[in-house]
Amino acid sequence: KEPSAPRHFLDIDDYDFDTLRLILDNARALKKLIKTSPASDWPKVAEGKVLAMLFEKSSTRTRVSFDVAMRQLGGETIVLNRNDMQLGRGETIADTARVLSRYVDAIMMRCTSHEALIELAEHSAVPVINGLSDRSHPCQILADIMTLEEHKGDVAPLKVAWIGDFNNVTASWVHAAVRFGFAMTLATPKLLQPPRSFLDWANDEGGRITVVEDPAVAVAGADCVVTDVWVSMGQENVAERETLLAPYQVNAALMEKADKNAIFMHCLPAHRGREVTDDVIDGPQSVVFDEAENRLHAQRAILAWCFEKV
Ligand code: CP
Ligand code: NVA
Repeated sequence: KEPSAPRHFLDIDDYDFDTLRLILDNARALKKLIKTSPASDWPKVAEGKVLAMLFEKSSTRTRVSFDVAMRQLGGETIVLNRNDMQLGRGETIADTARVLSRYVDAIMMRCTSHEALIELAEHSAVPVINGLSDRSHPCQILADIMTLEEHKGDVAPLKVAWIGDFNNVTASWVHAAVRFGFAMTLATPKLLQPPRSFLDWANDEGGRITVVEDPAVAVAGADCVVTDVWVSMGQENVAERETLLAPYQVNAALMEKADKNAIFMHCLPAHRGREVTDDVIDGPQSVVFDEAENRLHAQRAILAWCFEKV
């Protein structure tokens, strides 16, 4: 990277442990400060700055947490929906990046294709943040690791079980497992398993990632059980996916097979009654709303890092 290159935040596997640790430690410090001090004491690391948030898909958490994070840090946001922009009429991503870079100080994009995000970053003079792509969801998983640490302490000795589809959220969880050193077992139907090349990457990096078909095998002794929707935004073959994934519901019977102190995580939105039952998501092991709250705390730290304030 050129010394003057913007600090993009595109994927967890782009960064080493020390960088991720720095961002997470700052997230924790800012969470504590903002909960205990008046607004006049909060670091205004985004003062005078504007974040453009470009959406090709729906969002509640990512949109609101980035907006609030920018305001708390002294900055502002502009929300842009693809179809309201010339991008929706054929202007290129590269030209959009060149133009937006002249107006704003950072760009967050939620996109249909990860290639678009890479292209945006390549042509942007300001930091680009991945607000979810078809490949990954790194901001979510930084908040998830923060939540895991708050509930379970040091994550390196933990065993995390992923139940369901291998998707963008799973990919970022695996990136985090490799960088933070915890073991992960994915229980997914054969037709929805990760590509061989992805698992080879994880193993080559020293990751402890196992893929099985039986959810009961994955959760045995797990400290954390995670799932996500069976059909991600933009995915097709809904009926086929729902049939394949029906045996992968996280319910009380499955949770009982995990460690008795295991926590349940889900990035939300949840499709209750499909991938998770009400008794689990609303039960004592669920930390899903702490996880959702930590999106805000993680976003502040990601923004501070992109603005080179940490
Ligand atoms: N978890 C998450 O990214 O939620 P939104 O789709 O609401 O942003
Ligand atoms: N895997 C889900 C995550 C939503 C936050 C999706 O891409 O729709």
